[in-house]
Amino acid sequence: MCKDISESRARFEKLLRETKRENIDYVIEDLDSWGFFEAPASSQGHGAYPGGLLEHSLNVYDSAMAARKAMLDLRPDLESDLDPDSIAIATLLHDVCKTDFYRLVKKKRRNEVGQYEEFEQYEIHDENFPVGHGEKSVILLLQSGLDLKDEEIYAIRWHMGPWNLSRDDEKFYRQAGKASPLQPLVHAADTLASAIVERPGKKL
Ligand SMILES: [Fe+2]
Ligand SMILES: [Fe+2]
Repeated sequence: MCKDISESRARFEKLLRETKRENIDYVIEDLDSWGFFEAPASSQGHGAYPGGLLEHSLNVYDSAMAARKAMLDLRPDLESDLDPDSIAIATLLHDVCKTDFYRLVKKKRRNEVGQYEEFEQYEIHDENFPVGHGEKSVILLLQSGLDLKDEEIYAIRWHMGPWNLSRDDEKFYRQAGKASPLQPLVHAADTLASAIVERPGKKL
């Protein structure tokens, strides 16, 4: 589903500004200069088109807010641990690392009648600032002057969940989840958005 980028961008910026977090305008300026608003969310998977990353980030926000509501029905005492401003910061900015990460390249393939034709596809270029995935998002945001709270750092750093962890990483991952429910919420929302909200529609 490819929505109008300018409409999505206006909503994204409004949600971030509503947090009233110091330096948020500088962060939005940096996101623009890094190419965040035109970037895809993946090379060939979910959101592999210009503006896909913006749309994915909003989907993770919407999934997290829906999951927050469902969880608070069960555990109303956790309301202050799942602050909507922190959810906006952590979800909308969790994949900032994907800016300057995919490049459109021209490739050739055979069409149905066996002739070669050119097509464009995104490819991963991870040589610029190779410091990881969630880690890169946190570092870029801190460099941009964003005053991230500790639980927001945990949620962004560990948004991919527990896959492919070394033993040290596994220990830190578990500690982050114990420190704040924001981290498991953002991980769940990222999974729900990419696997369900952004699931390709069935062909009729
Ligand atoms: Fe990610
Ligand atoms: Fe994501």
